[in-house]
Amino acid sequence: MRPCTSLRSSQLKAVIDVPGDKSISHRSLLITSQAKGISFVSGLLESDDVFATMEALRLLGIDIVKLSDERWQITGKGISAFKQTTEILDMRNTGTGSRLLLGLAAGSAIATSFTGDESLKKRPMGRILEPLKLMGAKVLSAVENDKMPLTILGSVDLKPIEYELPVASAQIKSAILFAGLSVAGKTIVIEPHPTRDHSEKMLVGLGADIKTEELADGKVKITLCGRPELNPANIIVPGDPSSAAFLVVAALITKDSELLIKNICINKHRIGLYITLKEMGANIEFVNKRIVAGEEVADIKVRSSKLHGVIVPEERAPAMIDEYPILAVAASFAEGETVMLGLAELKVKESNRLEVVANNLLACGSKVKVIGDDLYITGQDKIKGGVTVKTFMDHRIAMSFLVMGLVTEQAITVDDISMIDTSFPTFITLIQNIGGSINLA
Ligand code: S3P
Repeated sequence: MRPCTSLRSSQLKAVIDVPGDKSISHRSLLITSQAKGISFVSGLLESDDVFATMEALRLLGIDIVKLSDERWQITGKGISAFKQTTEILDMRNTGTGSRLLLGLAAGSAIATSFTGDESLKKRPMGRILEPLKLMGAKVLSAVENDKMPLTILGSVDLKPIEYELPVASAQIKSAILFAGLSVAGKTIVIEPHPTRDHSEKMLVGLGADIKTEELADGKVKITLCGRPELNPANIIVPGDPSSAAFLVVAALITKDSELLIKNICINKHRIGLYITLKEMGANIEFVNKRIVAGEEVADIKVRSSKLHGVIVPEERAPAMIDEYPILAVAASFAEGETVMLGLAELKVKESNRLEVVANNLLACGSKVKVIGDDLYITGQDKIKGGVTVKTFMDHRIAMSFLVMGLVTEQAITVDDISMIDTSFPTFITLIQNIGGSINLA
């Protein structure tokens, strides 16, 4: 356990970068592993989650070499070309890495065993494995809902399916599409609400035949033609909007702050938090908008702002699914009530985020209610703090409450910051460098 304390701060002022986007980083390794030949990725997030995916791919026979800081070379072997390993893949804390790799493993004629840390072993894998089984993969797990540890027996003869997702999840969608790469025929995924489309964009970039249609009822239909020849690529990973979110909220709620956060992915399926904060009165601007390697990117200007409560609709959840903990911190200092609707998916993240956010905020002195799957927060000018919060192996809980401690009357200690290394290894030094007061115990 590595505890850490944040104390009241003001005037966060700087021009900064944040590390590469986690979703795009995982996909850059996984998708180029299926191309034939040498691809290059720059701006890769060098974090524990991405390293877990990288180490698993190496065990499956993919050569991945670091060329310089954040620049990597991946030698892909083509579709369905993973080699059999006798090792168990330890995916540690990464839900995205494991679920997406399960899709690729399903399309290779090998048996692959997966495990993870105590947090990952509690997370549902059945939602990914059910469609993969329909396609013809076989799964062995002794734990209910096909949780880890588990073994998947893949096949190069998977069947094409049309699958309507029971929940709006980019991980399930991507796992099915990744398995679909090996299929002779069309794989169709229908999502109830649009989710992040980095897999689709990257697959198009490497030459796959993949089509996205918005249906009249708001659903989205994605059709992939299997067995493409994927070309090696040069991928540039933009900064992570989910990491930038902590700095944006820190600047909004601390006095006299102004940050310019450069080179952030503003894919329309990722910016729900930014839309919500603007509705709350936040002074946030996206400047210097451009397209980099198929993704929309901008610099984010943010200044301290007086926020007010809003209702966040359920349909927006997929576009801000990882940002509710930090939004809850912002809402605690906003005038009036903020209502966040339809948060059932938060219960199956790295921790039960709905429960953990509510309990920790209450401990800090926020006014919070959970009714069903909805979170209600009534903001206050001053919040006491002065507590140690539990993070339950969840990086985003740790970062959210360290940000909150920059504003509360008394310091906030988080019990363990180790998991911050899964997504944002430079978080603590970055906050210190921009003027935030954070002390490692
Ligand atoms: C991700 C999708 C989301 C998100 C996760 C990353 C991805 O998960 O919470 O951090 O990269 O596809 P779900 O697909 O479970 O919503």
